[in-house]
Amino acid sequence: MAGRLEGKIALVTGIGAGIGQGIALRFAREGATVIGCDISEQWAEATVAQAREEGLALSSLHPIDLTKPADVQRYVDHAGAVHGRIDILVNAAAIAPHMTPVAQMDYEREWMPTMVGEVDLVFLAVKAAWPWMTKVGGGSIVNFASVNAFRGSTNTGMVAHCAGKAAVMAMSRQIAVEGGPHGIRCNTIAPGMVQTAATAAAGTSTGEIAERIKARLLIKRLGVPEDIANAALFLASDESTWITGTNLSVDGGVTAV
Ligand SMILES: NC(=O)c1ccc[n+]([C@@H]2O[C@H](COP(=O)([O-])OP(=O)(O)OC[C@H]3O[C@@H](n4cnc5c(N)ncnc54)[C@H](O)[C@@H]3O)[C@@H](O)[C@H]2O)c1
Repeated sequence: MAGRLEGKIALVTGIGAGIGQGIALRFAREGATVIGCDISEQWAEATVAQAREEGLALSSLHPIDLTKPADVQRYVDHAGAVHGRIDILVNAAAIAPHMTPVAQMDYEREWMPTMVGEVDLVFLAVKAAWPWMTKVGGGSIVNFASVNAFRGSTNTGMVAHCAGKAAVMAMSRQIAVEGGPHGIRCNTIAPGMVQTAATAAAGTSTGEIAERIKARLLIKRLGVPEDIANAALFLASDESTWITGTNLSVDGGVTAV
């Protein structure tokens, strides 16, 4: 049976861990040729090795630092030149944001890197992929917002993260507007708390904070990367060709209450 992304050339950033890894593997299982990237050589290699064991078409360029314009251009142009087209771009990579309250947040050390690592890297990848996508009559871009684009947090300071994720959502809406005439769709996914190595290390998907988050959810479990990969698959595939400029919240229902 043909996969839901059969024949598609898909770029997925941040394939070394968490949501990006889950999406890259899922897309490849659905027939896409996936070209990933990550700043971590070791993590990207591990994902590629896992794909190889399954016989999946998943390659990666690494290390790529997506906050550096020249790296982004090299990654996107490499994928475009090798495959002649780009049909899908999923911007899953983001730096771990500085979770500092507004009163203590340092502008240069914390605010700026969070904005660059959550917002600028999305803009840079979209800009680099644009000519490749327009060349083949369009494609699908999936960017990552967060529940924190809609709500604050009493658990931890996150003024820059909230601003960054709301910026990604607003920027994606405008990308959809400008992409329409070229057949380029652009949507965001806003995940709630997803269990990944990073959220576990930050202590946000384990222990007392996790229990507090779970208590607010309508579906009483935290998310897993597969939950997000299911949504990304739909938005990347031809099943959603009349959907653009919108956000899909995948959050256990937390933003409904
Ligand atoms: N996990 C959650 O609970 C959650 C919730 C809401 C939104 N999100 C968003 O979903 C997306 C994926 O999150 P995740 O939890 O899987 O993240 P993660 O930290 O688990 O993985 C991010 C990956 O991106 C890579 N990366 C980081 N900076 C990079 C850079 N400058 N250049 C290239 N690669 C880089 C990392 O090495 C890592 O492999 C992010 O945009 C995140 O903000 C996550």
